Amino acid sequence: MSDLDQNPTAPRRGASASTVADAIVVPTFAPVPAGRPRRRYAVLGTGHRSGMYVGAITGDHADVAELVAWCDTNPGRMDFYDREVGTALGLDGPAGLPQYGPDDLERMIAEQRVDVVIVTTPDRLHAEHVARAQAAGADVVVEKPLTTTAEGSRTIAESVAATGRDIVMTFNYRYAPRNSTLREIIASGAIGRPTSVHFEWVLDTVHGADYFRRWHRERANSGSLLIHKSSHHFDLVNWWLDDTPVRVYASAHRDVYGDGHAEDRGPRPARGSEAEGDPWSLDLRRDRRLRELYLESEQHDGYVRDRDVFDAGIDIEDNVAVVVDYAGGATMTYSLNAHSPWEGYTVSINGTRGRVELRVVERGAIRVDGDGRVVLDPSATPDAVPVAASRPEGEQLLLQRHWEGAEEVAIPQGRGGHGGGDAILLMDVFRRDLRVGDDPLGRAAGFVDGVRAIAVGVAANRSLETGQAVLVDDLDLGTALTR
Ligand SMILES: NC(=O)c1ccc[n+]([C@@H]2O[C@H](COP(=O)([O-])OP(=O)(O)OC[C@H]3O[C@@H](n4cnc5c(N)ncnc54)[C@H](O)[C@@H]3O)[C@@H](O)[C@H]2O)c1
Repeated sequence: MSDLDQNPTAPRRGASASTVADAIVVPTFAPVPAGRPRRRYAVLGTGHRSGMYVGAITGDHADVAELVAWCDTNPGRMDFYDREVGTALGLDGPAGLPQYGPDDLERMIAEQRVDVVIVTTPDRLHAEHVARAQAAGADVVVEKPLTTTAEGSRTIAESVAATGRDIVMTFNYRYAPRNSTLREIIASGAIGRPTSVHFEWVLDTVHGADYFRRWHRERANSGSLLIHKSSHHFDLVNWWLDDTPVRVYASAHRDVYGDGHAEDRGPRPARGSEAEGDPWSLDLRRDRRLRELYLESEQHDGYVRDRDVFDAGIDIEDNVAVVVDYAGGATMTYSLNAHSPWEGYTVSINGTRGRVELRVVERGAIRVDGDGRVVLDPSATPDAVPVAASRPEGEQLLLQRHWEGAEEVAIPQGRGGHGGGDAILLMDVFRRDLRVGDDPLGRAAGFVDGVRAIAVGVAANRSLETGQAVLVDDLDLGTALTR
């Protein structure tokens, strides 16, 4: 796994037990036709996440894609990637790609003859950025969540209709082999028609806390965890069941982070990079990438990446519970907790002929070093205080049909981060047209999948406001969702 693949505070995945790639999970692609020009890509939003795309374009996919420009509000972050690309291309210095501010997105697309814009800006900006890029004649690859509001969804729906361009949604969790295998089991009919889903996701006090340090902690930016984080999970359920959410009831509260919850935690530092031995903090000085991308780029825009998780002004919840009805008749009970001592998820799906359960432990416990600081990369910190091994990291997929014993289903190996999903996702993003045969798992996602995934979160946010169950049809998302 590359550090660029995911949030730097997310659990790191150990080496894969097998190097044999499963033919269904890892697709095959035809060679690039001789003489075909590479597609010209620009990155809009040069924060941490964009690194995965930059690495792919300068690495595995350099034969089909080339980077031609940067667009961001912060020249420090554009300079960072320009240096990285220079190094990747074997140049003596930075790559010298042209840099544009957000007002010049259309000019960039025209001047640099951009074919595709990769949108990795904060969530609240996705709708505007997708619509502007499409109107200026570019295709778009957009990170999840598609957008944060019903209004944003309508903006994108109008743009897709007006330009005739779909978008590529990068739902990387679909590509994790364990999640793909669960989809295969349900699609095979082994449990019959799905009737109910019980889905619990826990984020630990390193990764979960990270959403309370930066822009995500304000609902106006992220739509709350119900959209920013849970859209991954709601997309998985839509895809696993091949179904569409129709009614949502939510309950949520904030119990650990934010104002009024730090009384017994000792004096709080203003920010993580000034804290000593505080396990709630992230110290940007200790990681070159985070230091250069954020700490040393603050001078340009004042964006502080490591604010205290107990600050005032945080308005998102750290415990959410949602009940969802699906068009096909199944119901889901879902919960997300962002202050767990371990990280992972359990999903159980009942059907008319049996039940399937997936249990995943991504980080069994958080390690703290001798100075009381959280260890993000255990392999780089051998002197970290070890933790008991009673919750080993791993995954287990159990299928049990009526009147039979439980059967453990083997999970084939993939490659890369997010449970092996990101590298396979990138193949589908950059060489989708060269794929040999259709994907039996139907992983590639577009605009309607993006809307379907945020539909639950948008409805849940409205349910929190009204105290009532909300019909997805009443949200006016700008497009029909039922298959
Ligand atoms: N699929 C995943 O697993 C995954 C993981 C991490 C992040 N993400 C998504 O990727 C996106 C980026 O996340 P991140 O962690 O890199 O955030 P970030 O805040 O680190 O980076 C965002 C970048 O956008 C820039 N920006 C802000 N306003 C802008 C504007 N008006 N015009 C142009 N640029 C602007 C910022 O300067 C920054 O460089 C988010 O939508 C997030 O939800 C997805």
